[in-house]
Amino acid sequence: LRTFDLVLIGYGNVARRLVALLDEQRDRLTREHDVRVRIVGIATRRHGCVYGPSAATRFSNSGQRLGTQTQRPSTLAFLRDSLERSASTARQRRLIVVETTTLDIERGQPATRHIETALAGGAHVVTANKGPVAFAYRRLARAAQRADRRFLFEGAVMDGVPIFNLVRETLPAVQILGFRGVVNSTTNFILTAMEQGQRFDDALAEMQARGIAEADASLDIDGWDAAAKTAALANVLLGANITPHDVIRGGIGSRTGPLAIQARAAGRRLKLVARAERKRGRLVARVGVEDLRGDDLLAGLEGQQNALILQTDLLEEIAIVQRSGSLTQTAYALLSDLLTVARER
Ligand SMILES: NC(=O)c1ccc[n+]([C@@H]2O[C@H](COP(=O)([O-])OP(=O)(O)OC[C@H]3O[C@@H](n4cnc5c(N)ncnc54)[C@H](OP(=O)(O)O)[C@@H]3O)[C@@H](O)[C@H]2O)c1
Repeated sequence: LRTFDLVLIGYGNVARRLVALLDEQRDRLTREHDVRVRIVGIATRRHGCVYGPSAATRFSNSGQRLGTQTQRPSTLAFLRDSLERSASTARQRRLIVVETTTLDIERGQPATRHIETALAGGAHVVTANKGPVAFAYRRLARAAQRADRRFLFEGAVMDGVPIFNLVRETLPAVQILGFRGVVNSTTNFILTAMEQGQRFDDALAEMQARGIAEADASLDIDGWDAAAKTAALANVLLGANITPHDVIRGGIGSRTGPLAIQARAAGRRLKLVARAERKRGRLVARVGVEDLRGDDLLAGLEGQQNALILQTDLLEEIAIVQRSGSLTQTAYALLSDLLTVARER
């Protein structure tokens, strides 16, 4: 049985669901993958940090407050200390840092720094945070290569539905020429609701109440979340080196409602479409409302559904649809990345 030690940077909805999922799947991980996972460290922004083999238990038992157990060091100081304490595990390539801090749409920090530090300290990194991939993919991929460690981020786009894995693992020698998709659930839900006469504010409030909208909902409705995903996809799949600020960006608002109703009446649909392609050697990436024909695959997406259509050289178009999303799916993305690391050891 091979034991992997995890240091969790960020312990919110996603990381907590991952810890529960690892517990639920423990037997299967042992039986089918010969893998055992221990949480050895947890860092948060306001609730302190803890290091030790029973970190997760101690964290839950302490009612999230760890200020008394540690000196509440900065996350970076905690991470460096954890890497030092786990140096022998890191040397054996069995240390994995799981980065799930909040998306920073200005610069993708401090998550990018967390990842660089973890890789330099000999840990593999898996993340569901799109910031680092959207702002610094090339740099981080090189750092991982230099360190001979993995940097994986399946959960950054469309939760657990495999996009990056699909291309990396199953499409050798296929070139991705471009993509278009609906990648933000909140805006698709609001557009669908407004077509049925619901008010913008009410539909948004529903998404917030269900915990689907980002904590700062303007990240969703102004197109920032979709722009971050577009930059991440373009950087990884199209070899671009852009940030969300290079994506031409539009969002939705209450005034989109009447237009959505009109489009629907004419057999068409308004969708917030994310797209990128190379035009005469130059990469163009864009997020904005598009008026789609009724028979367009993206036009068929209801509620929180997402889809991505890849344009390729050898297989023409490949579409992948996410018919529902949940925290379990995001946690699964991290689990699948962990197993990728374990498989390659
Ligand atoms: N929720 C989803 O369905 C979903 C889906 C796909 C991707 N994601 C991405 O996954 C990530 C986590 O999402 P979430 O829903 O779990 O967020 P969340 O519940 O807000 O949790 C974020 C966690 O990160 C911690 N944190 C923030 N800044 C930190 C710092 N500088 N150092 C250490 N810890 C820090 C927070 O600490 P405190 O607890 O002290 O505030 C909290 O524990 C985000 O990047 C999000 O975009 C989420």
